[in-house]
Amino acid sequence: MDFRAEKTIKHYSSNQKILLVGEGDFSFSKCLANAFGSASNITATSLDSQESLMSKYTAASANIQELKVLGCTILHGVDASVMRYDSRLNCCSFDRIVFNFPHSGIFKQKNAAVIELHKGVVRGFLRNAIEMLATNGEVHITHKTEDPYIRWNLKELGEETGFCLVEKSSFYIWEYAGYSNKRGQGSKCDQSFPVGNSATFKFVKV
Ligand SMILES: C[S@@+](CC[C@H](N)C(=O)[O-])C[C@H]1O[C@@H](n2cnc3c(N)ncnc32)[C@H](O)[C@@H]1O
Repeated sequence: MDFRAEKTIKHYSSNQKILLVGEGDFSFSKCLANAFGSASNITATSLDSQESLMSKYTAASANIQELKVLGCTILHGVDASVMRYDSRLNCCSFDRIVFNFPHSGIFKQKNAAVIELHKGVVRGFLRNAIEMLATNGEVHITHKTEDPYIRWNLKELGEETGFCLVEKSSFYIWEYAGYSNKRGQGSKCDQSFPVGNSATFKFVKV
């Protein structure tokens, strides 16, 4: 039995088993781990291979080192659209599955076909996440709530994949000390982008 006191940051608790998907430089995972004083409850993943991460993000190596010391499980090459079949993950279920600022990596934001690509990333993630949730678990997606991002219609994507949107909580980056949100693609992949008006969309299984 674990007698350590529960520690929390915003929506997250040291008592939850948390899966982070599509990490950039792993600074969000590190922020949670620092708040908990441990990362033994966190599995942090990137689509990028370890090699690719190291060349894309200046802080990735140091962040991952710190996370490992805190007991985090780190996995690379995790594709959210097929992650339920990933042998490294299919042993477990999670209380929170989190994808911050999902994006296809194509930057023609207002192009209808590109919006469909972004929606495809979210749909694939949700279809997998629903199979990996513990009882009473939640899926969280943090996303911009301005045009053209509202055209992704996350609520509808959730409903289409067996979820119900239970809360849309305003997202303020300053509530996550040390988190540096990344563009993730192209020559400016290591740069942050202004989050503007964003929210954390919380979904539960219907
Ligand atoms: C805008 S970046 C955000 C990165 C990070 N979540 C953050 O907040 O800094 C979009 C991220 O989505 C990831 N991504 C895109 N498609 C994915 C997929 N099928 N599975 C997992 N991650 C994916 C990219 O690798 C990239 O890290």
